Amino acid sequence: MTIRRCRPIVVLTGAGISAESGIPTFRGADGLWEGHRIEDVASPEGFRRNPALVHRFYSERRQKLDDPRIEPNAAHRALVDLARRWPAPVRVITQNVDDLHERAGLGVAGAGELLHMHGELRRVRSLRTGRVHPWSGACDETSIDPETGECGTLRPHIVWFGEAILGTETIDEWLADCGLFLSIGTQGAVWPAAGFVREARERCAAACIEFNLRATEISAWFDDCVEGPAGRTLPAFVAALAEGGSPEDFRAACDIARRAAAVGG
Ligand code: OAD
Repeated sequence: MTIRRCRPIVVLTGAGISAESGIPTFRGADGLWEGHRIEDVASPEGFRRNPALVHRFYSERRQKLDDPRIEPNAAHRALVDLARRWPAPVRVITQNVDDLHERAGLGVAGAGELLHMHGELRRVRSLRTGRVHPWSGACDETSIDPETGECGTLRPHIVWFGEAILGTETIDEWLADCGLFLSIGTQGAVWPAAGFVREARERCAAACIEFNLRATEISAWFDDCVEGPAGRTLPAFVAALAEGGSPEDFRAACDIARRAAAVGG
């Protein structure tokens, strides 16, 4: 067992890890999110201009999580597997606002740690008190704050453009202490998440590996990039990683993951 093997792993996930579960990714070539301009549905100005539209947008996405066909996929499960087997902490920072990581068992009963840096669909926040509440179903301007009883004071618990990400201090600590950094299914177009790989490299000399369907805007920052659907590549990588934690072991696990992608077609 090498020293590296005992160091924590930090994982950054993005929309691509949930794509095989049936949740669409964000960035189409036309810059639209499910038919809406990004600034209309993902900015504080957009919410002030048209709260009804913004509430409807997130309510629909929240309700979609209740569709029984939307389930965690093999990539979500592989991370739980990794967290259970790796002898040091496995810390997952997700940009996703869905709940598929936790439904796969991540962050539960000692199986890793999970941080939603861009918020969560299943929560809303009071504009007045700042307090966060669990929420299911639709939320709109007539919804009542369960704590204060006020009407029209709730907003989606989602980080919009121009707003600060959640969990900054924890993320900062995690990125200062990892031997392996994995980025899964994210385009690297949104900051500060796009810069995490550089931090992990520069602050603790972590080995950095990217999993994506294809090269991204930040691929050059990784030691290795595994192309293919994460639902195929990640389980193979995690299974192979059980063999060891040296840079050679990481490279060998990447090769096995690439072969898994090729076999799957
Ligand atoms: P994007 O939609 O920008 O990128 C999704 C990435 O996943 C792309 O690089 C795809 O190639 C890749 N991908 C798709 N299917 C995949 C699969 N099966 N396996 C592996 N990779 C796959 O989504 P994000 O990078 O997550 O923020 O976007 C980051 C943030 O942009 C989001 O969190 C959102 C948005 O602003 C907020 O909502 C606050």
